[in-house]
Amino acid sequence: MEDRYKLGIEEIDNQHQKIFDLIDELCFIDDKSTKQIKKIIIELKKYSSYHFKTEEKYFTDIDFIEKDKHIHLHDMFIKTIEYYYESPELLNKKKLYTFLNSWIKNHILIEDKKYITKEYIK
Ligand SMILES: [Fe+2]
Ligand SMILES: [Fe+2]
Repeated sequence: MEDRYKLGIEEIDNQHQKIFDLIDELCFIDDKSTKQIKKIIIELKKYSSYHFKTEEKYFTDIDFIEKDKHIHLHDMFIKTIEYYYESPELLNKKKLYTFLNSWIKNHILIEDKKYITKEYIK
């Protein structure tokens, strides 16, 4: 993971790294194996839910101003990957990889970075 994705909170940085690693697993599987794609989606859903809980607990501790909006973004992500799981036309590793990779990068750089920014903490 490039330095620009680091927030300086070890537990969270390690979890983000693990999410990047799970997404990268898509690069090593067979293009046509929906079974393998689905397996990665399940793992990713499990691990990102765990990561989101860590962040959301942290939001309460620090009194993060955009807590509710941020939780909503996490929920939407889970719903979107569930939708991928259920839609045969989206079970394409390239499409999935593009979506996941851009979502996680944008989410960290734009949204997660807010909770380490003074102006967003009460
Ligand atoms: Fe995050
Ligand atoms: Fe987040």
